[in-house]
Amino acid sequence: MTTPAAAQLGLEYKPLEAPQLNDPFPFYARLRHEAPVTFAPAFQLWLVSRYADVQAALRDPKRFSSRDILRPPVDLPPEMLEYLKEAGYSPEYPLLGDDPPSHTRIRGLVGKAFSVASVAAMETRIREIARSYVDALLRAGPRADVVAGLSFPLPMHIITTLLGIPASDGEKLKGWCADENLFFVPHLPPEARMHSARGVAAFRHYLRAMVEERQKNPRPDDFLTSLIQARLEGERPLNLVELINLSSVIVFAGHETTTNLMSSALLYLLRHPTAWQELRANPAALPNAIDEVLRFDTPVVGMMRTATEDVELSSTQVPAGARLLLLFASANRDEAIFPEGAERLDIHRANANRHIGFGHGAHYCVGAQLAKLEMRIALEMLLERLPNPRLVPEKPVPYLPALIHRGPRQLWVEWDAA
Ligand code: HEM
Repeated sequence: MTTPAAAQLGLEYKPLEAPQLNDPFPFYARLRHEAPVTFAPAFQLWLVSRYADVQAALRDPKRFSSRDILRPPVDLPPEMLEYLKEAGYSPEYPLLGDDPPSHTRIRGLVGKAFSVASVAAMETRIREIARSYVDALLRAGPRADVVAGLSFPLPMHIITTLLGIPASDGEKLKGWCADENLFFVPHLPPEARMHSARGVAAFRHYLRAMVEERQKNPRPDDFLTSLIQARLEGERPLNLVELINLSSVIVFAGHETTTNLMSSALLYLLRHPTAWQELRANPAALPNAIDEVLRFDTPVVGMMRTATEDVELSSTQVPAGARLLLLFASANRDEAIFPEGAERLDIHRANANRHIGFGHGAHYCVGAQLAKLEMRIALEMLLERLPNPRLVPEKPVPYLPALIHRGPRQLWVEWDAA
């Protein structure tokens, strides 16, 4: 059986425009039921929406390769690619954009820096940093945009600390990451394409200076120094461009994702005041609640893979060379896995942790422990210290147009004055 093409069903993928931008879930539900694996011509991507198919692809890197994961857009003029290359950009990314076995070695090394023990050792520092932002929020209140005041600066501060760069560069890095987000959107108007490319180039110049400085001045117990000194497959260390690209992934993956999850968690917990009260009374239930938000509104909406041969998913043939977007956000609402009201937030859901919000298999998020710890610390502090918080009704919750990431850009909260 072959499923009908989405276009025939009136199912057009428009993730960058309302209503899908604000609420993509009705579209995903239709995909899962009517066209679970379907081609979206405007993006040249095959959308994969069911949990079983997404998981099968993630488990099979031989047939679903990550090598092309951050391929530059097809409409990028060659002279712009040249300009970017001079800045240290390369479409080849170690780790995220690699497959086993070469992926495995660098993963071992990066994984060490993010192991349960290494992350536990960061807890005191993370608490101090979180406290400083929550203090500032309370001083500025009783009304604030918590994205600007907490859920953006906290993860950014932590990732800059890990890389040994000034936290005050966070805003600059955020701007470049936004440019990089835009960079992968196909068919941008030329001006916007130029703007995003300039940002990507400036980001690479910054990272190059950071790596070169650390090559000259290695530091003890330092994450970047350990990457620089790592020897891959026999003797070859990572070269400059690989180090730059890997650092860009760490900066990007280390903040945008956690920012979005933190903001979404606050949004949903404040929309469900009983859940907020329950968690206040019993913070031990927080880890499950965090998993449930990750399932319910998955911050990494999906990731790309490339079919290395002809493949079949949900009885649909996908040709060799095709690019697939594995929709984690849709898989996490799949009734086949979450039969008890998959479209409802339930912080007590028994199998919430079966979500694939952190991916699955070889590329399972290396920063998952860190993200969960940051989330737990920040939410515990807010539960304890914000008196009677509620959403500010007249402030809308805007979403950034992006293919891969999803989360509120602003979230206005008010609370009782002390
Ligand atoms: C990989 C999600 C936080 C670093 C991934 C993947 C997902 C994900 C879905 C799999 C990508 C794939 O299969 O292609 C998230 C979410 C986070 C989060 C939802 C927060 C809520 C972090 C943090 C870091 C990080 C704090 C810290 C640096 C990475 C890296 C990879 C990765 C380096 C690539 C791992 C590999 O390819 O082996 N993440 N992430 N992430 N994540 Fe995260």
